[in-house]
Amino acid sequence: MKNRDQWQSKMGFVLAAAGSAIGLGAIWKFPYMAGTNGGSVFLLLFIISTLGIGLPILLAEFVIGRKGQRDAVSSIKRLAPGKQWQGIGWLGVMISLIILSFYSVVGGWIISYLVRSISMSFEGTGEDFYNRLFETVISNPFEALIGQAIFLLLTIWIVSGGIKGGIERANKWMMPLLFIFFIILAVRSITLDGAIEGLKFLFVPDWSYLTWSTALSALGQAFFTLSVGSAAMMTYASYLSAEQKLGQSALSVSLMNIVISILAGIVIFPAVFSLGFSPNEGPGLVFIILPAVFDQIVFGSFFLIIFFILLLFATLTSSMSMLEIAVAIGIREKYENRKKAAWLIGLITFVIGIPSALSFGILSDVSIAGYSIFDFADMITSKIGMPIGAFLVAIFAGYVLKKQDLQNELNPQVLATWRILIRYIVPIAIAFIFIQGLASL
Ligand code: PFF
Repeated sequence: MKNRDQWQSKMGFVLAAAGSAIGLGAIWKFPYMAGTNGGSVFLLLFIISTLGIGLPILLAEFVIGRKGQRDAVSSIKRLAPGKQWQGIGWLGVMISLIILSFYSVVGGWIISYLVRSISMSFEGTGEDFYNRLFETVISNPFEALIGQAIFLLLTIWIVSGGIKGGIERANKWMMPLLFIFFIILAVRSITLDGAIEGLKFLFVPDWSYLTWSTALSALGQAFFTLSVGSAAMMTYASYLSAEQKLGQSALSVSLMNIVISILAGIVIFPAVFSLGFSPNEGPGLVFIILPAVFDQIVFGSFFLIIFFILLLFATLTSSMSMLEIAVAIGIREKYENRKKAAWLIGLITFVIGIPSALSFGILSDVSIAGYSIFDFADMITSKIGMPIGAFLVAIFAGYVLKKQDLQNELNPQVLATWRILIRYIVPIAIAFIFIQGLASL
């Protein structure tokens, strides 16, 4: 039997974890969630949720994965034999595949935009034009499904290559490049006329938005961007053997996520206000605004192509972590079957995602509990599945894991603070926000 893969280096792991975290969550979802939830208040709650709640859970998932050295389900089983805690792993599989099913729809939009920007078919400018372009991309059933299929094929292809070959290599160069790009875009956006309104929207709080429903949205967003509550980080950490300061890695992943989210906000909102768009466009926000910002840059249409390529990579480094959770479980007995498992699970995800892909076109009249199919899939994962998954991880790590196991994984100061957070603060905060937030949805 072949051995289990391992990350080649400590850096490889940190980059992969950051790659899983940073993706559409920070770049696409954060701006539109902030846009519809009052901007600054949402940002503030998001930062508090990320550092106070998400980070301790991320660290818990790292510890469980590294200690377990197996897929999410088997790792948990190994750490708590004879109990039913491995349900956390199965819940993670469900959540991650549902996320992947609509995530790949957005991945498909990126591919459509990329193809259109390469073939120079952006023949127009201005608010109306970009709104119409987005409408066209998302509502055509063939374009939506083909885009989604291509995106999933790319994900399957990378995951088939395994940890070292596929996942680690892809992460190494694109993350820093994307970061540099975002800084350039941010500078351009804040130097537009009237940009200050956008900065105010993002940084000066309008307290009327401070509600439980905003709090639950921000908490869900923190989990979504950190990939916690879905077993992705557990799975990635299980490929880590070397001595690694887990606390430091978890902190850097969380901070990077916050920085990229804020940068995305600084790119989007000044442009929204300066160019006469509205901040509550919903899922189309980034797709409508970004091309308009590039219009304001020299060689904009060329940079737009590069940007979509980088965005596609950032999206793939997240989607591959979602697929990897189920693949790792599927191949636990036979590592040789990686390719087969990736194909099979990828195909299942495609089928689950078809209604989401069509929910902006031929299925746009279908609504579930007042949500479109796409929004419903997002809502049940971010606002229900991930908080429940994260809560269970906190209880498991805080009360079931042996203290001695933890002592080997974390240094004493980190351990002491983390333990208080994960045993008391985190579960109470999640339960409270979850219950209050659901009641006010
Ligand atoms: N963290 C990813 C993002 O922000 O785009 C999304 C994600 C990845 C969620 C992996 C869940 C997951 F398991």
